[in-house]
Amino acid sequence: MGRRLHVLTWGCQMNVYDSARMSDALAPAGFGPAATPEEADLVILNTCHIREKAAEKLFSELGRLHRLKLARAAGGAPLRIAVAGCVAQAEGAEILARAPYVDFVLGPQTYHRLPALLARAEAGEAGVIDLEFPAEAKFDRLPASRGPAGLTAFLTIQEGCDKFCAFCVVPYTRGAESSRPAAAVLAEARALLARGAREITLLGQNVNAYHGEAPGAGTWDLARLLAALAELEGLERLRYTTSHPRDMTDGLIEAHRDIPALMPFLHLPVQSGSDRVLAAMNRGHDGGFYRALVGKLRAARPDLALSTDFIVGHPGESEADFEASLALAREIGFALAFSFKYSPRPGTPAAGRAEQVGEAEKERRLAALQAELRASQAAFNAGCVGRTLPVLLTGPGRHPGQLAGRSPYLQPVHLAAPAELLGRVVAVRITAALPNSLSATLEPERLCA
Ligand code: SAH
Ligand code: SF4
Ligand code: F3S
Repeated sequence: MGRRLHVLTWGCQMNVYDSARMSDALAPAGFGPAATPEEADLVILNTCHIREKAAEKLFSELGRLHRLKLARAAGGAPLRIAVAGCVAQAEGAEILARAPYVDFVLGPQTYHRLPALLARAEAGEAGVIDLEFPAEAKFDRLPASRGPAGLTAFLTIQEGCDKFCAFCVVPYTRGAESSRPAAAVLAEARALLARGAREITLLGQNVNAYHGEAPGAGTWDLARLLAALAELEGLERLRYTTSHPRDMTDGLIEAHRDIPALMPFLHLPVQSGSDRVLAAMNRGHDGGFYRALVGKLRAARPDLALSTDFIVGHPGESEADFEASLALAREIGFALAFSFKYSPRPGTPAAGRAEQVGEAEKERRLAALQAELRASQAAFNAGCVGRTLPVLLTGPGRHPGQLAGRSPYLQPVHLAAPAELLGRVVAVRITAALPNSLSATLEPERLCA
């Protein structure tokens, strides 16, 4: 008892959520948090496989931990090392071969089995590995989280993906799409609110494909689930991510019009502006479909802002295709965007294609696209100056007497405000747009309805 756990997390918000749930899973076995690997008895590396560098980071971190483990073996309590997450799922056996000092490896669907896997490793079993997609539901078997929740909390409602975009590993590492029952989601949301959360972000690799068992008969889609969550006592704000354009139903668009707690901000990855590339990517939509969707969303909720993901240098992307991405970026005017050089992932269809784009060309395209996206983000932020926005105050600001929070559009906002407003949504006037945040002053009628 009294052992300590350190979890290192890479990748998406779903991994952040999973890391917290792994800590929950080990709490009954007597594990409390350790701030650093040096102070830990068990280190779990929760990995991401989406692009090359993530796996490289894993092996460099493993090297560092190996040295720590050797030093520890010379005297003191042993250090155990586990690898979890999407690299574990994709390359579990190779990890054990390349880093035999790893005590055990587990995939994202088996976190509820953590205590049993650890016990096997502690009993002296070498190369413990569990990459199953078990029939039993992981979430039903994980112990509930304890202690205070943050003011902003994540809640995974859907996992996996059946879309098989040509470039993407997620369908292989996270398995088929599945949704948690609505009652389980509502119960977890109530518990988060009781522990202090004010904003909940629903997570899923394809969150808007959600189709969970309804509390009565049948299933609920995401729009229905959002409506039920919005009724919960204490909930100020709802968000969801990541969505696929194809699953953006009319009902969900209407939810943005009808549910005030649903923030007017949507992450809607487009990946490319070229119909040819979108087809090669197997995205199942073209540029026209995306533009029409944005039109419908903006008609339903005129203050809605969008963020997106782009990939440059997908196999077969010509200069003209790339320019179509630039043109789409310019036309939509994203408030925020993430852009990546295409990274061939083993086992995905795109990785085997002959027409790979050269590294230097990918670099050039990425730099050009990012300049465009930065300009559009700066324009969006500048457009906020003079507006009154509701801000959820989540922590101390940069200077004494300041608090910081988030706008509806996830922009960090700094303002002078008394500490007792922490955790409240206040009306603020945006006074300046800095490169990565906004400055604001409290409105006289500072509390939002
Ligand atoms: N489910 C989400 C995306 C999940 S992955 C969706 O459908 O959009 C997050 C982002 O990583 C993707 O949107 C994509 O832009 C990027 N990405 C995925 N695979 C990639 C690859 N092989 N190379 C470069 N970027 C990739
Ligand atoms: Fe990957 Fe495409 Fe599924 Fe998103 S929709 S997780 S990009 S396969
Ligand atoms: Fe990475 Fe897996 Fe998330 S590959 S982006 S951690 S689903």
